[in-house]
Amino acid sequence: MPLPPFPIKTRRLVLRPYAAEDADQLYRAQSREDVTQYLYWGPRTREEAEVALADRMTRTALTVEGDRVILAVDLADTGELLGEVHLAWISEEHRTVEIGYIFHPDYAGYGYATEAAAQLVRIAFDDLDMHRVIARLDADNAASTRLLERLGMRKEAHFVRNEFVRGRWADEAVFAMLDSEWPSARVAEPFVRGLPGHA
Ligand SMILES: CC(C)(COP(=O)(O)OP(=O)(O)OC[C@H]1O[C@@H](n2cnc3c(N)ncnc32)[C@H](O)[C@@H]1OP(=O)(O)O)[C@@H](O)C(=O)NCCC(=O)NCCS
Repeated sequence: MPLPPFPIKTRRLVLRPYAAEDADQLYRAQSREDVTQYLYWGPRTREEAEVALADRMTRTALTVEGDRVILAVDLADTGELLGEVHLAWISEEHRTVEIGYIFHPDYAGYGYATEAAAQLVRIAFDDLDMHRVIARLDADNAASTRLLERLGMRKEAHFVRNEFVRGRWADEAVFAMLDSEWPSARVAEPFVRGLPGHA
């Protein structure tokens, strides 16, 4: 599927493929318990983070169903690496992709993750002609839930203790947006929704 050329720019951010120079910052994020507590993996050792980086550097295209693009997200003004976003091609037949995001806590609370995720939603509908964008998360992940609500995605499912993740039974939530819902979500400028003065 034809992604826009890299780097992809948003108001404050630059989305680009990972590079070898990102090793320290990726390890800084992936080695933290608070970053990985709702993920299927982690915290990662330095060696595990380097393997993850090598894998991420290859994830730059959606060629066949099942592919996943993982992009590093920099702050445009400073070039600091804030985190990453994921775009996974779930189904060709059903024109569905899944979004994901992981940001370092040092950069939490500025709307950066929402802004980067909103760009993926735009790409999915405007560039890739998708029918449905989904996100799956641990239902206890409150920050991720708020982000998806800011994007205008609907909660569609809540599975009760359906996954055994890192030693505990976890609930899984599924959020979604359809192409028919996207025009009104776009008009609402999702990355500012929910802020004072932007209700
Ligand atoms: C999920 C995650 C990316 C959310 O991070 P976040 O900092 O809450 O999200 P954003 O960067 O979009 O910032 C939003 C916050 O900034 C505030 N904010 C400030 N300026 C903003 C702006 N211009 N636009 C939007 N929000 C803004 C919002 O009010 C919001 O705060 P609130 O949630 O307390 O109401 C982060 O918690 C994370 O990486 N967690 C670890 C990995 C993970 O669990 N990933 C998800 C797996 S499903």
